[in-house]
Amino acid sequence: MSSSNNADIHSQRILILDYGSQYTQLIARRVREIGVYCEIFSWDFPDAENFAKTAQGIILSGGPESTTKQDTPHVPDYVLTADVPVLGICYGMQALAKKLGGEVSESSQREFGFAQVTVKRASKLFSDLQDDKNEDNQQLLDVWMSHGDKVTLLPEGFVTLASTGNAKYAAIANEGKNIYGLQFHPEVTHTKKGEEILRSFLLDICGCDASWTAGNIAGDIIDRVRSQVGTEHVILGLSGGVDSSVVAALLHEAIGEQLTCIFVDNGLLRLHEGDQVMETFAKHMGVKVIRVKAEDHFLSTLNGIDDPELKRKKIGNLFIEIFEKEARKIKDARWLAQGTIYPDVIESAAATTGKAHLIKSHHNVGGLPDDMELSLVEPLRELFKDEVRRLGDELGLPYEMIHRHPFPGPGLGVRILGEVKKEYADILRRADHIFIEELRGHDLYNQVSQAFTVFLPVKSVGVMGDGRKYQYVVALRAVETIDFMTARWAHLPYDFLDLVSRRIINEINGISRVAYDISGKPPATIEWE
Ligand code: XMP
Repeated sequence: MSSSNNADIHSQRILILDYGSQYTQLIARRVREIGVYCEIFSWDFPDAENFAKTAQGIILSGGPESTTKQDTPHVPDYVLTADVPVLGICYGMQALAKKLGGEVSESSQREFGFAQVTVKRASKLFSDLQDDKNEDNQQLLDVWMSHGDKVTLLPEGFVTLASTGNAKYAAIANEGKNIYGLQFHPEVTHTKKGEEILRSFLLDICGCDASWTAGNIAGDIIDRVRSQVGTEHVILGLSGGVDSSVVAALLHEAIGEQLTCIFVDNGLLRLHEGDQVMETFAKHMGVKVIRVKAEDHFLSTLNGIDDPELKRKKIGNLFIEIFEKEARKIKDARWLAQGTIYPDVIESAAATTGKAHLIKSHHNVGGLPDDMELSLVEPLRELFKDEVRRLGDELGLPYEMIHRHPFPGPGLGVRILGEVKKEYADILRRADHIFIEELRGHDLYNQVSQAFTVFLPVKSVGVMGDGRKYQYVVALRAVETIDFMTARWAHLPYDFLDLVSRRIINEINGISRVAYDISGKPPATIEWE
C-alpha cells in the first residue's frame, strides 16, 4: 500500500454525546466498526456544537443520572436545530423525551438484563429485523436493558416503535424529524440485532456510506504523516507491543528511510521476543531498528530492590535514560512518534477536566527532555485498540504480534515477585512459553483475555528421581475480562492445567511446583505485583 484514497474519510462523521454511560466508548467502537467515523464529546462540552455542524447524525449515550431529578444533564438546543438525525439511547432517550415535552418517571421495577421487545410499527430503524415472531406475527427482538426510569408520556409527534411488558415505550420515534429513542442498548452484543439497528441508523437514516475501513484509514494516516513530517526524520520507541508495532509499520510505509526505531531490549521480555521484533521489522520489512541490548543494565539497576512500585519506577526511568541517549545520536531527528490511541486521549482529557472531550495533546509520554525539541507525531490518536489491530492486519504484520494479550511495560519485572534476577527471568520465560504455547495449541489463547506465568521466589519440596529437591514455584494466571478493571479467573479445563503443569516441571530444571491462581479482580488484581 503506498498512497491511497483521495476522499476524506472524516467528511462523514457522527457526534456522540456522552452522558456518563459505561458503554459510551462501546457505542463509538460499534459506529466505527460499521464504517463511520465518530467522536465522543461530553454532553456539555462547548466544542461539541461545532462538531455537530459538520456531523451527519448525533447519538446520545446512556448515563447514570435520572432526568426526574433537578439539574441533571440535558439535551443541548443545537442537537435539535442541527437538522440531522438523532438517536437517544437509554438516558439519552429519556433526556430527549423530556426536552421535547414528554414525561419520564421513576419505574417501580428496574429492568436489568435480557428483555424481548415487540415491534409495534414499521420503521427505518428496525426495517425487517427480528429474532423471533409472536403469535400475532409481530417481530420480536432480544435486547439488553439497564434502566430504572422510563418514558411515561411521549412528546408530541412521536410514536411507539417497540414495547416490552414493563416499558411501553422501549423504542420511539418522530420519523418525520428523524429523531429516534431506544430504551435498550444496541451497542452491547447481548442485543442480538444491535449492530444492524445501529447500521440502519447510520447508513439508511443518516445516509452515511461505510468508508471508515482499515484500508482507507491506513491510506489516510500515511498521507497525513507524509504531509506532517515532510522530508524530516522521525524516531520511534519500538517495544514489540501492538501500538508501537503498528506505528512502525505505518511510518515505514509513509516515510521509509526517514524513520529510525529504537528498541530497548531490557531483558524482561518474553522468550525470543527481542529476536522476533528484529526479525519482523529489520529483517522482513527493512525498517531501520537500533536494538539496544540493555539486559545487564536493567538487572544491575534492579539489584536488591523488591518493592513493586520502586521496580516500576527504576525500569521506567532507565528506559527513558537509554532511549534518550540513543535518540540524541540521531542528529537530524525532528519528530518523536508515539503510539497514543483514542482511549488514552479520552482518559487524559478526563483526568484534567473530568470530561470526555478531545482537547489535550498527550505530551511526551516518552518523557524526552524539552531541549531535544522534538515534535510529536501520533498516527493512532483517533483509533480504538480494535481498529489498531485491524490496521496491523491490513499492513501485514504477523497475526500473533497483533492479536497478543497485553503485556505490562515493566515486563517480567513485575511477574518475578520481589527481587529480579537473571536466573529467575530465564526460568520464568521458559515456563510462560510452555503455558502460552499450550493455550494456543488447545485453541484457548483467544478465549482468555490475558494469560501469563508468575515466578515465586520460594522453594518447595518435590520428589524427583531418588531424592527430595527444593525448587521454585510458579503460578499460572489466566483471566477473562472486557475492560481489565474487573476480571474473572478463567475456568481452564483440569486436563489442560494438568498437561501444562507436567510439562513445566518435567522440562524446566528449577521448578518443583505449579499453582493456578483462582482469584477474581476485585479483590485481587490481574498481575501479582
Ligand atoms: P492489574 O494488575 O492492575 O492489571 O489488574 C490491569 C492491566 O494492566 C496491566 N498492568 C500494567 N501495564 N505497566 C503496564 O504497562 C504496568 O506497570 C502494569 N501493571 C499492570 C496488566 O497486565 C493488566 O493488563
